[in-house]
Amino acid sequence: MTEKMIIAVVGATGSQGGGLGRAILADPQGPFTVRALTRNADSGKARELASQGVEVVEADLDDEASVHKAFDGAYGAFVVTNFWAQRTPEQEKARTRAEMELAQAATGARAAKDTGLRHVVWSTLEDTRPHFERLGIDIPTVFDSYKVPHFDAKARRTHSSPSSECPPPSCRRPSSTSHSSSGKALTVTRTASWC
Ligand SMILES: NC(=O)c1ccc[n+]([C@@H]2O[C@H](COP(=O)([O-])OP(=O)(O)OC[C@H]3O[C@@H](n4cnc5c(N)ncnc54)[C@H](OP(=O)(O)O)[C@@H]3O)[C@@H](O)[C@H]2O)c1
Repeated sequence: MTEKMIIAVVGATGSQGGGLGRAILADPQGPFTVRALTRNADSGKARELASQGVEVVEADLDDEASVHKAFDGAYGAFVVTNFWAQRTPEQEKARTRAEMELAQAATGARAAKDTGLRHVVWSTLEDTRPHFERLGIDIPTVFDSYKVPHFDAKARRTHSSPSSECPPPSCRRPSSTSHSSSGKALTVTRTASWC
């Protein structure tokens, strides 16, 4: 039997990564298998995945070594950063949510490159700023440079790729957001392939 290719899924316990995980599980004859990344393997959702036979691995995008370990041996990865993550007041003070997403995305890209992943899909969003400018709409600036930070910061990451990380995206797929609980369909937000 041919060995299945492992897809390491960041956010496997959430909406987007969960949809991908369910889609792979729904295709048992397919070439892929899921490695679910979570910060807490004891959570209800992580345990549920484990009970379905999914390999569950603890990793945190704020801990690069853990992501490196979790990507090791995988064929590819799906990476989502969570702008809306629950944070403590100390974490809010330490860095903005945009800075958090940029750092976490860079961590994912470095870990992908260092572990030699063949293909990475990064869940990103569009930069809203040129559109507001084009339409002549003046809205407040947030975190020094963004209009809609959970869109604009992700887009900044999509378009910049320091040489030490993966090359810039080779393809970008615009698509609507749809998270199927049945696992029969999967559409993530705008995605970009890093490597
Ligand atoms: N849902 C939408 O319709 C939608 C639309 C557009 C854009 N987005 C963007 O998508 C992101 C949220 O994705 P989602 O909707 O899938 O979120 P979600 O359902 O709330 O799930 C968040 C996932 O991220 C994981 N996670 C959070 N912080 C992490 C960290 N430091 N390291 C590793 N994993 C971490 C969580 O895993 P554990 O808790 O198990 O560790 C969880 O699986 C946001 O940035 C948002 O801007 C979402």
